[in-house]
Amino acid sequence: MRLVLLGPPGAGKGTQAKELSKRHGLVHVATGDIFRWNVKHETELGKIAQSYMEKGDLVPDDVVVRMVVERLERIEGGFILDGFPRTVPQAVALEENLEKLERPLTAAVYFHIEEEIAVKRISGRRSCSNCGTPYNVEFDPPRVEGVCDVCGGELVQRADDREETVRRRFEVYEQSTTPLRHFYAERDLLREIDADGEGEEVARRLEDSLDLPARSAAPGE
Ligand code: AP5
Repeated sequence: MRLVLLGPPGAGKGTQAKELSKRHGLVHVATGDIFRWNVKHETELGKIAQSYMEKGDLVPDDVVVRMVVERLERIEGGFILDGFPRTVPQAVALEENLEKLERPLTAAVYFHIEEEIAVKRISGRRSCSNCGTPYNVEFDPPRVEGVCDVCGGELVQRADDREETVRRRFEVYEQSTTPLRHFYAERDLLREIDADGEGEEVARRLEDSLDLPARSAAPGE
């Protein structure tokens, strides 16, 4: 299965992609995570990406496309693209490259969420500065405020999760990414889900939209 997840910031794409990739043995490719890794490690790519990310703008298409295509060429099985494509030129480049690899997309799933709910989720998002474990102060808090349950590291907020940058990310999303719904609908690849609700419920809707077998409780659940 080769998937694209689409939706505004805070829709839960990353959360669901992690879960779905674990359950179905898919490789999770998150362009935002790759950029953040490169920014943290001060690579050339990180230096380019940082100036755009901190303003809430998109990294230029040619930079992102090159990075994703290199990854895709190394993946043998199924994959989930989370945060890519984000513009029509990126979607066209993806389509052309997957055609060359003879591995077309299975589906593009659009996550519907109201802006206020997404903003509430984003403003509560934190992660461990040491091991990267994600938390949400509202929906998934650590046992001790500001401290990672796993390693005791300090919890930090993403630089682009500040309110003014989140607003800019929404604006950019409306202008650049919304047209992708039409792009994938025309190709009969679009699935749409309601991304509001408990994580488990959203996961069920996502799997239903992809005609995956009904979720059964994993051992220990
Ligand atoms: P990126 O990291 O992709 O950010 P984004 O798309 O804005 O996505 P988010 O991570 O904010 O939201 P999400 O939908 O993944 O939600 P999540 O699961 O984390 O990109 C960052 C930047 O990188 C971009 O602004 C751009 O500059 C650059 N970039 C990346 N890709 C690019 C591209 N293709 N082209 C150009 N530039 C690119 O959830 C959010 C929070 O909500 C979490 O705290 C989570 O715990 C919580 N949550 C999730 N689901 C639920 C639920 N059901 N109930 C309650 N809480 C929930």
